[in-house]
Amino acid sequence: MNSYRILSIVAVGSLLSLAGCMSPNTRSTMIQQSLYDRLGGKPAITAVVDDFISNVAADAKINGRFANANIPHLKQLLVEQICAGAGGPCAYSGRDMETAHRGMNIRDEEFNALVGDLVKSLDKFKVPDREKGELLALLGPAKPQIVGH
Ligand code: HEM
Repeated sequence: MNSYRILSIVAVGSLLSLAGCMSPNTRSTMIQQSLYDRLGGKPAITAVVDDFISNVAADAKINGRFANANIPHLKQLLVEQICAGAGGPCAYSGRDMETAHRGMNIRDEEFNALVGDLVKSLDKFKVPDREKGELLALLGPAKPQIVGH
C-alpha cells in the first residue's frame, strides 16, 4: 500500500469518527444531502405537486389554460422533473419546456401566478427557506423557454 493510500484512509477515518460524535445538524452539513433528500424524497415532492395543482385549478388567472390538460400525466411529469432536478433517482420523460409550451403565448403574469401557486404549497408544507429557494432556482431559469412562445 503506498503512502498516499494510507493517508487517504487515515483522513477518511478521522472524518467519520469526527462525524460520529457530532450533532445530527452538524453532521448533515458535513455530509451534504441532495435537495431531493432534504425535501423528503418522492412522497414529499408528490404531496407538494398534488397541492400545487389544486391551487392552479382554483386560480382564475390561469386555470383556463389547463382546461384540456391531462392532469394526472402533468402531475407525474412535474414530480419527475422536480425529482430529477433535485438530484433524486428519477428521469424526466416529458418534452423540453419550450416544446411543451409552444403556441401557448404564456404571459409573464401567468408565469408569476403559477410560481405563486407553487410557493403557497411549499409554505403549506413548511418547506424551509433554503430548500424553497433552491427549488425555485431550479425552475426559474426555464422562464424564457416558457413565456412568450
Ligand atoms: C416554472 C414554470 C413551469 C413548469 C416547471 C412547467 C412544467 C410543465 C411540464 C413538465 C409540462 C409537461 C410537458 C409535457 O407534456 O411533455 C407542462 C405542460 C403544460 N404547461 Fe407548464 N410549466 C410551467 C409553467 C406553465 C405556465 C405558466 C402555464 C400556463 C399558465 C403552463 C401551462 C401548461 C400546459 C397547458 C401544459 C400542457 C398540459 C397537457 O397538455 O396535458 N405551464 N408544463
